[in-house]
Amino acid sequence: MATVLAIETSCDETAVAIVKNRQVLSSIISSQIAVHQPYGGVVPEVASRRHLEIVNEAIAQALEQADLDWTAIDGIAATCAPGLVGALMVGLTAAKTLSMVHQKPFLGIHHLEGHIYASYLSEPTLNPPFLCLLVSGGHTSLIYVKQGGQYDVLGQTRDDAAGEAFDKVARLLNLSYPGGPIIDRLAQQGNPQAFPLPEGKISLPGGGYHPYDSSFSGLKTAVWRLVQQLQETSPDLPVNDLAASFQATVAKALTKRAIACALDYGLDTIAVGGGVAANSGLRDRLQTAANSHNLRVLFPPLKFCTDNAAMIACVAADRLEQGYTSPLSLGVQSRMPV
Ligand code: KG4
Ligand code: ZN
Repeated sequence: MATVLAIETSCDETAVAIVKNRQVLSSIISSQIAVHQPYGGVVPEVASRRHLEIVNEAIAQALEQADLDWTAIDGIAATCAPGLVGALMVGLTAAKTLSMVHQKPFLGIHHLEGHIYASYLSEPTLNPPFLCLLVSGGHTSLIYVKQGGQYDVLGQTRDDAAGEAFDKVARLLNLSYPGGPIIDRLAQQGNPQAFPLPEGKISLPGGGYHPYDSSFSGLKTAVWRLVQQLQETSPDLPVNDLAASFQATVAKALTKRAIACALDYGLDTIAVGGGVAANSGLRDRLQTAANSHNLRVLFPPLKFCTDNAAMIACVAADRLEQGYTSPLSLGVQSRMPV
């Protein structure tokens, strides 16, 4: 079984991990949240510079935590797409350089494939076919994971991604960045039925609604209107109830689509990935719905829901075992479908 060291720098986490046989030997995640918080979001140039400052230290720490030296590493990988171009360049260049210095195969890995593979870290025996509900800051997709690492995207958001909706609604409620974990925490003290909110639906030309595609921008606007109305009567917003009502609406929309898709395609397992997979409201609702339909639902450990390098190393180790490597001429790309 291949032992792979991977570097993930697609956004605001500098992460390095070593994985062998779907087992995480080490995982270093250095978050830049505090650096970007004053700006209310990730500043790409600042992210690249910070990756550059700490990536070498993170690599050394990953080797130390695994108690390994370079002789034990069979391949070196990095995320090559999608993400912030400057940020991706730092990790990819580091991986290529190390692969030349240590004479090891190099692999460029798709970030979203990493989020799909995160479920293997909690369930190493998982095998396709299964349905992946991928819910991150940039994507909201239902992906049919086929044998042989092939993917069919069956549903996606037509506007905001689920994580993006959490972050934008948090801003409306004057909460800090990233909003997802904060809304999650506040929602646990609130009433999810306090404010009925609209679930975004995509109309089909012949009537009815798309069963798997989602939309979150209407929901965000509805929260904005509600906030304006509430502020007319009192400056103190019922933030916990607003957070709980918003979170419940997102969880309901995602759960409905994921369950319908799994049943329609005869898939018995739903593996959830991406930052929003950490959301307690989504976890509870999807688990309950899956139980009542005799479906299995897998959530990665919380630390592997948001961006990390273990999920990238997990993909790379599989690829290496199948005999694939990437050329050193491989570049980065800000967008790339799975
Ligand atoms: O997967 P990820 O770390 O980065 C991307 O690839 O986008 O996802 C980040 C997103 C952010 O929008 C963040 O607010 C959201 O995941 N997030 C959450 C939670 N933890 C992170 N959203 C809801 N509830 C959470 N507990
Ligand atoms: Zn991600």
